[in-house]
Amino acid sequence: MGVAQSVPRRPDNWLTYQRLLDSDTRPVPGVLRRENPLELPPSEIAVERYTSREWFDLEVERLWKRVWQMAAREEDLPHVGDNLVYDIAGMSFLLVRVAPDQFKAFYNACLHRGRMLREAGGGTRASEFRCPFHGFAWNIDGTLKHIPCQWDFPHIQPAAWSLPEAKVGTWGGFVFLNPDLNAAPLADFLSDELSDQFKRWPLEHRYKQAHVAKILRCNWKVAQEAFMEAFHVVATHPQLLAGIGDANSQYDAWGNFSRAITANGTPSPHLSWKPSEQEMFDSMTDRRLDEPPLAEIGGELTARIASAAGAREMLRPALGAAVQDLSDAELVDSFYYTVFPNFHPWGAYNRIVYRFRPNGVNVDESIMECMYLAPYPPGEKPPAATIHRLGADDDWTEAPELGFLARVFNQDTFNLAKVQLGLKTMKKKTVTLANYQETKIRHFHFLLDQWLAR
Ligand code: FES
Ligand SMILES: [Fe+2]
Repeated sequence: MGVAQSVPRRPDNWLTYQRLLDSDTRPVPGVLRRENPLELPPSEIAVERYTSREWFDLEVERLWKRVWQMAAREEDLPHVGDNLVYDIAGMSFLLVRVAPDQFKAFYNACLHRGRMLREAGGGTRASEFRCPFHGFAWNIDGTLKHIPCQWDFPHIQPAAWSLPEAKVGTWGGFVFLNPDLNAAPLADFLSDELSDQFKRWPLEHRYKQAHVAKILRCNWKVAQEAFMEAFHVVATHPQLLAGIGDANSQYDAWGNFSRAITANGTPSPHLSWKPSEQEMFDSMTDRRLDEPPLAEIGGELTARIASAAGAREMLRPALGAAVQDLSDAELVDSFYYTVFPNFHPWGAYNRIVYRFRPNGVNVDESIMECMYLAPYPPGEKPPAATIHRLGADDDWTEAPELGFLARVFNQDTFNLAKVQLGLKTMKKKTVTLANYQETKIRHFHFLLDQWLAR
């Protein structure tokens, strides 16, 4: 499928991602050859979407109460009875593994006088849910177990006093929930296209190596939109330019998800000089001035080939001989998906998964989470990392498990609170999006409009 005429074209001498793939040392999988540019008129997005209480409340009613949303990794709840609290925009759910292959989600509130049954925080194992206030108790499958002083509650029909549920589904090792009991199944929402694109990179065969959650002082959409394009790299992360094809990125959208591909080990077209392969490699590997290079790049070796070869060896213990068939692209480039409304799994072997949520019902604050999902040798699955929480004033580098990305996130975070403040004082009442490079954001708002209009 070619790029349609209505999609803006970059200068002809800029390298497209598809042309870059032609130089791969391996056959490139079909999923990377797919293109589906978004065909929508230019987008102006009303500022009030990011700043107004009315808009936020509409999102609660029409989006969060009705949409499939990623709640946890299956491995966060490895045993029957394991449970955790999933909070979203003022709602709280208790997610439980009720059988080896079954999860349930309950509204996290006692049916007596409404106390929360479990507090937010790390997961726990339970054989029942007993309310700390007066002691009403439910079995882990949600059926009523115990009424203190039952003689005083002749008006309760125990069979009708199960905990109310939300719908639950799983995909890629993630547990999703949907408060709307009439919602179409998760698989329909995600689509065969999404599952097909992840077939080569089964996220269900990964373990959660790191999980960091940080409070950000901006609306949840401001936060996630900063991670949906490579357009900001030139101004926000200039140190990366020698080794990133930022403005050469490819953007596509299908149904309820979109995808960006940004190549690494190739210079930014913004540069007026041509970096050497060594300089590209050093930039990709975040080499500091006082450090030796991670590898000497010379002769036939290119930055892309060297990084791909290094990644193949890192993955060999987990993937075995299959690493030989992985293309350089799958080992070096960034494939960042957005599944509406707030779930961002990365493709191939980049490990990253993001999730963005409002912080409670605060219009101006959000929670950004970054997980690393890594493959592991068959039969040797390590335990899942627990959540490392960072406050609004904590620096990302307080989470050393994120490696050099922590410093990159600091650069992103530096903008976000200032975007939220700027939006509030902005005289122009819309933000204006680039037609192509902000495809994913445009696609998100196109879908959001449909949800909020329903
Ligand atoms: S509020 Fe839960 S037992 Fe009374
Ligand atoms: Fe960034």
